[in-house]
Amino acid sequence: MYSLKLLGALVLLISVPQTFAVKSHDFKTCSQAGFCRRGRALASRAKEASSWASPYSIDLSTIEIAHDSAKFTAQVKSSLYPDVKFGLDVRLHTDGVVRVRMDEIDALKKHYDEAASWALISEPKVSKSMKWSVGKTEFRAKFGEGQEFEIVVQFNPLKIVLLKGSKEQIVLNGQGLLHMEHFRPKKVEAEGEQKPEGMEDAQTVMKVKPNAWFEGEDEDAYWEETFGSWTDSKPKGPESLSIDISFPNHANIYGIPQHATRLSLPSTTGESPHFEDPYRLYNTDVFEYIASSPMSLYGSIPILHAHSADSTVGIFHAVGSETWIDVSHATDKSTETHWISESGILDIFLMPGPTPADVFAQYARLTGTPVLPAHWALGYHQCRWNYISSDDVRTVQKRFDEEGMPVDVFWLDIEYSQDHKYFIWEPKNFPDPVDMINDVAATGRHMVVIVDPHLKRVNEYPVYKEASERGVLVKPKSGEGEYEGWCWSGSSSWIDFFNPGAWDWWKSLFKPYQLASGGWSWTQSTEAVHIWNDMNEPSVFNGPEISMPRDNVHYNGWEHRDIHNINGMLFSNATYQALLERSDPPQRPFVLTRSFFAGSQRFGAMWTGDNLGTWEHMEVGVKMVLANGIAGMSFGGSDVGGFFGNPEPEMLVRWYQVGAMAPFFRAHAHIDTKRREPYLLDQPYKDIVRDILRLRYTMLPVWYTAFRETTVTGLPVLRPHYVTFPEDKNGFDLDDQYYIGSSGLLVKPVSEKGATEASVYLAEDQVYYDYFSHQVYRGSAKGKNVTVPAALHQLPLFIRGGSIVSTRERPRRASTLMKRDPFTLRVALDKKGSARGELYIDDGETYSHRNGEFIWRQFFADKRKKELRISSKDLAALRPSDAVDGVALKTFNPANEFAKSVSGVRVERIVVVGLGSKPKSVKVEGGQTLEWEYTPGAASNDKKDGAAGILIIKDPATPIANNWEISVQF
Ligand SMILES: *[C@@H]1O[C@H](CO)[C@@H](O)[C@H](O)[C@H]1NC(C)=O
Ligand SMILES: *[C@@H]1O[C@H](CO)[C@@H](O)[C@H](O)[C@H]1NC(C)=O
Repeated sequence: MYSLKLLGALVLLISVPQTFAVKSHDFKTCSQAGFCRRGRALASRAKEASSWASPYSIDLSTIEIAHDSAKFTAQVKSSLYPDVKFGLDVRLHTDGVVRVRMDEIDALKKHYDEAASWALISEPKVSKSMKWSVGKTEFRAKFGEGQEFEIVVQFNPLKIVLLKGSKEQIVLNGQGLLHMEHFRPKKVEAEGEQKPEGMEDAQTVMKVKPNAWFEGEDEDAYWEETFGSWTDSKPKGPESLSIDISFPNHANIYGIPQHATRLSLPSTTGESPHFEDPYRLYNTDVFEYIASSPMSLYGSIPILHAHSADSTVGIFHAVGSETWIDVSHATDKSTETHWISESGILDIFLMPGPTPADVFAQYARLTGTPVLPAHWALGYHQCRWNYISSDDVRTVQKRFDEEGMPVDVFWLDIEYSQDHKYFIWEPKNFPDPVDMINDVAATGRHMVVIVDPHLKRVNEYPVYKEASERGVLVKPKSGEGEYEGWCWSGSSSWIDFFNPGAWDWWKSLFKPYQLASGGWSWTQSTEAVHIWNDMNEPSVFNGPEISMPRDNVHYNGWEHRDIHNINGMLFSNATYQALLERSDPPQRPFVLTRSFFAGSQRFGAMWTGDNLGTWEHMEVGVKMVLANGIAGMSFGGSDVGGFFGNPEPEMLVRWYQVGAMAPFFRAHAHIDTKRREPYLLDQPYKDIVRDILRLRYTMLPVWYTAFRETTVTGLPVLRPHYVTFPEDKNGFDLDDQYYIGSSGLLVKPVSEKGATEASVYLAEDQVYYDYFSHQVYRGSAKGKNVTVPAALHQLPLFIRGGSIVSTRERPRRASTLMKRDPFTLRVALDKKGSARGELYIDDGETYSHRNGEFIWRQFFADKRKKELRISSKDLAALRPSDAVDGVALKTFNPANEFAKSVSGVRVERIVVVGLGSKPKSVKVEGGQTLEWEYTPGAASNDKKDGAAGILIIKDPATPIANNWEISVQF
């Protein structure tokens, strides 16, 4: 058996624990990718030339301005090739985003132009209120509320500048690196060229090749390219894109995930500290990836933020092919980037900000916000490669319950399936899958089962057989038949999700009942099963760079190179849609994807892939999750414990702390690792991890409320400092601490061996309270580091003064059993004695919230002279123009069915933190006097550090769904 042999070899390769090594030679460096080499060579010729001007300019006779909207088009020509024309389209959207699109006109072939159609939620509306003014050398147009923004399109050479006030924010082609390689016939490429304009020292080069000053002397990898034993046939020849995008007034840039590196992206062009290669976006299954590298990983989102204390702007380039991005911090005020893509068209969105929140909103209007997850998906997920049988699953579940450790989801990796034919249960070990799922569901839990995109090529596998009969599999370069490659299932083929013909069929597979059509469906499953889509880069064991050949053919004849980075998103979307249609009324699906692109946030969660059980990987995982949040993909986490290796107990405990403070919280482990379910830990580790798991569950209202917000605003669930304090320069490089949504909770996860304390940066003149001990830490307006205790059992978690945090503190086995649990409110008073906070809840599993079935509260605490008032108001009623999950609240009814269903749910405790003096009485407005207890603090005069004064109001019994007010009298 071929496949088993291959698997055996793989297991051997990866079974050497702790000697981790990425196989770098499996993956290209820039110098091994023809188009990247060409792009970088262009940049260095420009740098070395005594004078340099872009050969691209606007043909003035072709300019057309739409009279009814802020849009203009013109032809762009290049002095290199007078017969080649490009169409430029510059338009302003109603929200101030400027889209710049350029494609070749009357080309010999077509450049791939569909990336935006997959990434965007709809065609953006073009502004009608703005008018272009035409000058001799340029077009200009002002826009924005106070006309503070201006877009300038210079004709010759072509240059596009976004200004705010008189300050340059974004400059396209300012360095003259724009180059869109036109399609050309193979033999006659040197004909009909002209001497380039404005090139004094081009004369000598001209003798060799007329355009060599710009394009280089030889046709470097134009028509064919080999890497290792693979040859890429490049049937369309050169078609790459190069463009420089500069931020003359922004020193920090963030985004373009996924890379294992710092959040504020280091240079790739020589300034220290720096990487040698550009950041690469090419979705790849990188085995044992390096914890600090610009190498590509599983997902790619071509968006970045450029930030300064003055403003934040963003760039989104809708390109789906391999892209390399050089970053230069040549001065400490500016950043230059150079984008080099293998194919596609220029389709760049300039997001003017000017705040981080504005850029998030602008990007969310383009590609959508994260989907509101099922509430249970925010609980703890227990995974391993593999839980080997249905009885294994039952035993693990039992052990969690015996140890009082909450968990919501049990996962099954590939070994559940017979010969890695996904959906098909291995009959010996999983003889009773539906019973097993029901046993898990009986405690309110769910299962997630893996379904990968490679299909075992055997006719007795109905999924392969049906896909083959429908002709929806990816084709080899000939365009005929089925591409065959190797993956877990041995000889495999891949569904082409670019083919709409695959969509409805894929949806039908997930129906847990017999189909009327007689087609195959997953009758051996239930609605409690959700899906993990792995290996969707796609990973192909015997393919170039562990993926598909670029000359493979997809729907409509597009080559794999054109759509490579989009591929994984379409797979997770198809699965998401399938789960959505599985039930009536629809339940919110949970789909985890390894590969992702711009827009993937609409379909579910991602994780940082096959990380290592090392401190470095624990640390960089936090930064990677932050970077994904910048790119819209908030629902992320990294595997707790590390996928490879056997973490020592201390590391595992720290990793649980990291995981519990991430949006997606899952433990996972490689097949060769020792079992490491948390109940297997010795003391004191076991108790510490139990407390962490319980902490996560108490904080579910915080996480869920943060998710509601991101579904509307696009603001990330984890907020790095520059997002929360855009003007505080001390925070621009900070990526090892962050806030959770708008809750006011500040986390500094510890990922250092042997730590007993940690340094936390406080950006403002405000009090912060230790979440557990209520110790007071005081920040400063200039920013201040404070040292906090961080022994192994101590997670540095703080409440910012001025916040009210809602929790549910009764330990339960699973989150679904908490629906009627009472709430605790932690009121953390700010320096002036006030605070506020939000709570959002709904049924957590259906879409009835879109019909107004939810509770959305705002809590206030306000200190007047002799009184502290704590109140709860209906936020939906306060903000009728706001939205939940994209649906406006205008018709919100506070007495909705969901609110009625939780009318018995109360606040059982209010903890007021930072109260300087002892009250005389506490009572509910219009109601009874309440019991309370006051502990004075050393910091009670609000000047010194020390323990905060604490008032605990016992059982106020105020309903969570109602308005109420409590008066604390002094
Ligand atoms: C997602 O799937 C739906 C329905 O199958 C389809 O209409 C839509 O275009 C898909 N979007 C992406 C990004 O795959
Ligand atoms: C806080 O500590 C970091 C790391 O040691 C240091 O780089 C930074 O300058 C400090 N910030 C302040 C405001 O002291």
